[in-house]
Amino acid sequence: MDSTTNAPVTVIGLGLMGRALAGAFLKAGHPTTVWNRTTSKSDLLVAEGARRAPTVGDALKASSLTIICVTDYQAMHELLGASDVELDGTMVINLTSGDSAQARAAARWAGQRGARYLDGAIMAIPSAIGTAEAVILHSGPQPDFDAHKSTLDALGTVTYLGADHGLASLYDVAGLAMMWSVLNAWLQGTAMLRTAGVDAATYAPFARQIAAGVAEWLPGYAEQIDSGSFPAEVSALETDVRAMAHLIEESEAVGVNAELPKLIKAMADRSIAAGHGGEQYPVLIEEFSKPRDS
Ligand SMILES: NC(=O)c1ccc[n+]([C@@H]2O[C@H](COP(=O)([O-])OP(=O)(O)OC[C@H]3O[C@@H](n4cnc5c(N)ncnc54)[C@H](OP(=O)(O)O)[C@@H]3O)[C@@H](O)[C@H]2O)c1
Repeated sequence: MDSTTNAPVTVIGLGLMGRALAGAFLKAGHPTTVWNRTTSKSDLLVAEGARRAPTVGDALKASSLTIICVTDYQAMHELLGASDVELDGTMVINLTSGDSAQARAAARWAGQRGARYLDGAIMAIPSAIGTAEAVILHSGPQPDFDAHKSTLDALGTVTYLGADHGLASLYDVAGLAMMWSVLNAWLQGTAMLRTAGVDAATYAPFARQIAAGVAEWLPGYAEQIDSGSFPAEVSALETDVRAMAHLIEESEAVGVNAELPKLIKAMADRSIAAGHGGEQYPVLIEEFSKPRDS
């Protein structure tokens, strides 16, 4: 176990993100070995104290923890699957973006080659790496995460999600769904208010207040979803759907795009048609939990 502040670490892949990761390890005092297909991208890091490994195999051998961060899983497999690379006995954390199936398959693949493997997802831009703002999600065996947590802490706010290697990717996209949905809802309101001469900056504080208020509902609504029971304690879906119709009408009346309100109402209409009109909004989980045309 190398859970010390100066544990050696290797970073493979020195694109925009990989360079930020290696830089954060160096800044935190970790002896850092780097490798990149295009060698010149390691020059600055080497000038700052990193050691350049001549091959991927050498890079893996240099540290008891290797972080890989390349374009996609195919590139990761090409690099770590090369015939001259020995994975047996290594500890690899893959921070390359991908989906949950790729993460689980990569974990099986690495395990068959004798490597310990954690999958991860970076929810940050390169300039945030090394600050608390950078959220880095990990999934896989907890003992492996615990063993390297103090090294990973150099990267930002590191989080462990569970033993299923697919969890980091799933949380990553769930976060994106939340982000885009909130932003789209805000843009819808902004577009409508601009028709009345209200600029985006004027509306933004009100929108933020609404978003924060709705966020407070999540724990209670989550209880309804987890229990599978949706009593209309605040409002029934058939009441909500009348407000959705109003949102569509107003959007059309003021001449802005009504696609998003129509999508929202279409899902609620299907749920009501399935007999859920008297239940509360989270009953829509049933619409979200199946493909559109099933
Ligand atoms: N940048 C961000 O804001 C951000 C945020 C969150 C997550 N991520 C994720 O982090 C990962 C890396 O992103 P990035 O921004 O660093 O991308 P990037 O700047 O385009 O760098 C890509 C890296 O992958 C390497 N690579 C690609 N194909 C390869 C192959 N076949 N063999 C060997 N190396 C290969 C590149 O090597 P060369 O230098 O030789 O081309 C380079 O090191 C991606 O999965 C991305 O989704 C990025």
